[in-house]
Amino acid sequence: MKRVLTGIKPTGLPHIGNYFGAIRPALDLSQKYDSFYFIADYHALTTIKDPKLMTEYTLNIAAAWLALGLDPDKTIFYKQSDITEIFELSWILSCFSAKGLLNRAHAYKSAVDENLKTHHDMDHNINHGIYAYPVLMAADILLFNTDLVPVGSDQKQHIEIARDIAEAINNVAGPVLKVPEPLIQDDTKLVPGIDGLKMSKNYNNTIPIFLPEKQLRKKVMQIVTDSTPVEAPKNAVECNVFKLFALFNNDDEQANLAKRYSAGGLGYGTVKQELFDTIMSFFKLARSDYDKIIEKPEYCSRLLAEGKQKAKEIASQTLIKVKYALGFTA
Ligand code: ADP
Ligand code: TRP
Repeated sequence: MKRVLTGIKPTGLPHIGNYFGAIRPALDLSQKYDSFYFIADYHALTTIKDPKLMTEYTLNIAAAWLALGLDPDKTIFYKQSDITEIFELSWILSCFSAKGLLNRAHAYKSAVDENLKTHHDMDHNINHGIYAYPVLMAADILLFNTDLVPVGSDQKQHIEIARDIAEAINNVAGPVLKVPEPLIQDDTKLVPGIDGLKMSKNYNNTIPIFLPEKQLRKKVMQIVTDSTPVEAPKNAVECNVFKLFALFNNDDEQANLAKRYSAGGLGYGTVKQELFDTIMSFFKLARSDYDKIIEKPEYCSRLLAEGKQKAKEIASQTLIKVKYALGFTA
């Protein structure tokens, strides 16, 4: 059976970009494939240094996975930091990762570009974790002989790097590592945030799925729109509210909405309220489950501890195989 694996960093509240880009495709695939879904907490450590926040966000992401439908009997569900084999493999992979390859990784490169633009030293405020981030992600993936990695388009380069590293090892040690494929869905690969840029926990532009109702409504009302007056016809395809509606609407519903935009007389306040109602009804069940799960952190801990045992068993086998292939025998 094919294996599918993905992770989410506990760096903030889970949002609808995470859901449509990664969580929903992952949950769909878990019906057919062996699945490994985890909380990428050591990746989050590159930016989250506050211990309280780390604990809180980790619980938020765990509860989100469960409330949105992850079945711990079907899926191996764990915290990255619990699987120490990942970090051992990460070192091995480091020794096969060209420094030039990591210099070109988006996150590091854009941090360097920003430093140069603001007349700082190129590596100002950049920790080694950010630089080595793609290697750790390659270890997450390769350790479990993953076939498919469902992610949003922002992660494509990381998976290409994981493929390059796997091939570099296989060239030397024989075919010990499976070369993974990204699974990026065209219609949900880049969900826009309330400002129209990519929705991301880093940009403070998200619509978090599990916010209390009032705050969630406020986020939706803050979606940036142009200043076309109510009575004037509006450009649907350019509109952030319309783009977000596309995630929830079927083709007919979206075509109808486009007609209402071009007819004029539709105010942005009205469509935003409709989008808010749609979001609330789409996530109604999950929101109520989330509220229950978040009250029971010990329930999440127990599930994650069980997942840890199962994940470690598989992880240790791959690690032994790779070490042996590289000459690390008794
Ligand atoms: P964030 O950018 O909010 O910190 P993560 O980096 O934790 O999100 O991403 C977790 C998963 O959700 C990844 O697979 C990522 O590609 C996906 N994802 C995040 N934001 C979006 C988005 N705006 N559109 C589509 N997928 C997204
Ligand atoms: N880097 C991913 C992100 O920022 C999270 C992640 C860590 C991940 N390890 C992974 C995703 C392995 C898929 C597979 O979203």
